[in-house]
Amino acid sequence: MSNVKNYKTLEKIVSLCKRRGFIFPSSEIYGGFSAVYDYGPYGIELKNNLSCAWWKEIVQKREDVVGLDSGIFMHPTTWKASGHLDSFDDPQIDCKDCKARMRGDHMLEEFNINADKMKTEDINKKIKKLKEKNIILKCKNCGSKNLTQAKNFSLMVKSNLGSPTDVLSEDNIVYLRPETCGGIYLNYKNILDSTRVKIPFGIAQIGKAFRNEIVARQFIFRTREFEQMEMQYFLHPKIIQEKYNEWKKIRWNFYINYGIKEENLRWLKHEKLAHYAAEAYDIEYNFNALGGFKELEGIHQRGDWDLSQHQKFSGIKLDYTDPITHEKYIPHIIETSVGLNRMLLAFMHEAYTEETVNKETRVILKFDKRLAPIKIAIFPLLKNKLELVKKAREIYNNLKLEYMCEFDDNGNIGKRYRRQDEIGTPYCVTVDFDSLEKNDVTVRDRDTMKQERIKIENLKKWLKENL
Ligand code: GAP
Repeated sequence: MSNVKNYKTLEKIVSLCKRRGFIFPSSEIYGGFSAVYDYGPYGIELKNNLSCAWWKEIVQKREDVVGLDSGIFMHPTTWKASGHLDSFDDPQIDCKDCKARMRGDHMLEEFNINADKMKTEDINKKIKKLKEKNIILKCKNCGSKNLTQAKNFSLMVKSNLGSPTDVLSEDNIVYLRPETCGGIYLNYKNILDSTRVKIPFGIAQIGKAFRNEIVARQFIFRTREFEQMEMQYFLHPKIIQEKYNEWKKIRWNFYINYGIKEENLRWLKHEKLAHYAAEAYDIEYNFNALGGFKELEGIHQRGDWDLSQHQKFSGIKLDYTDPITHEKYIPHIIETSVGLNRMLLAFMHEAYTEETVNKETRVILKFDKRLAPIKIAIFPLLKNKLELVKKAREIYNNLKLEYMCEFDDNGNIGKRYRRQDEIGTPYCVTVDFDSLEKNDVTVRDRDTMKQERIKIENLKKWLKENL
């Protein structure tokens, strides 16, 4: 391990992501497009592995949760009913000199004032109080004290889908969903009517969400376009605490099970709650490269707010009749909600490792093997020896049917190992001259760098046991 304290810097992680084809800034050839990122060949594999792991734990392994894929665009009244049009705002402060935009709550946090979910007028009051003590907020960009008051800035992203005019008016506005759960509430009745689910049950969804974040920084931690993985669990209020504790445990264990060290996780109980929440905890991850513990996932008790609101605004009954007791009630909801991109950053941060080998720094992404973008890399020892290339290709063609594999004959073996270490490939298989005579290969382990000779006929079995 590198002896430099906190060697996991954001700069190194961003550079590795770009250099090795995980994540690229959007629209680079046009000078970039702020707060949007593109996922390259290894980024999309990692993202797919994370979302599959989440789906497996939340949907596949459970009888009481089903999946959904609803549209990004929804009836605009959805967002009136959910409260987003009235109160999904952040407190924006502008610098009058350099025009930089900042979030008032974040600026107060620098003075150890917890301004999470604080109303804009309260933020202005706090700023006034600081001023009375001769503490004046400064622009993060240019240091100027010439700042505006905080004002409400809506996070909703507008569009005019299907409209004959490109002018946005009250009549043609539609919104890109700011969270995926809206589609779940609107399909709750469809799922109840068309499948065999009974309360308590959950609906899970993975999909894009859009927020016009005032300050979208820190790489993929906070972006304007991102993917959410959300599950809404519908239940009778009498079992809410028991189920809430259960879901908190399930979500915590997910991170441990896939390789996050427990010391890098902690709970944060929200004192101030979002407009819909009755109780809310975050799982925070120690994003050292971003300055410490930050929100990774939210686990919320939403009460019966969502279904009651949609019932009120749509005029459609969304209550549930218990088949045994015949009690009629609006189900309450427990929500688990995490950004896939933010989760990817957490696992990337956790996996990033530097070791000193022969006085050189070896960079490795020590992903849990299930998450690694490429499971096996197959090399012929030399590129220009046809027999080696032929045998290595045969192995690659056979293994790729079951695993995400990569064939590489570029550069020397040392360079190939370094590349695979940096993308987190657990095993490298090399075909050398002995392989031609003995029909075996060397298998090199990413973490220990140990090499083992395995008969080709046993290779699949060996990989099955080790991957
Ligand atoms: N449905 C509830 C909800 O959306 P949230 O706390 O606003 O709650 C849940 O968001 C999760 O979505 C966060 O914990 C985070 O992982 C992710 N998330 C939210 N805003 C994000 C953004 N701008 N960029 C990346 N991820 C974001």
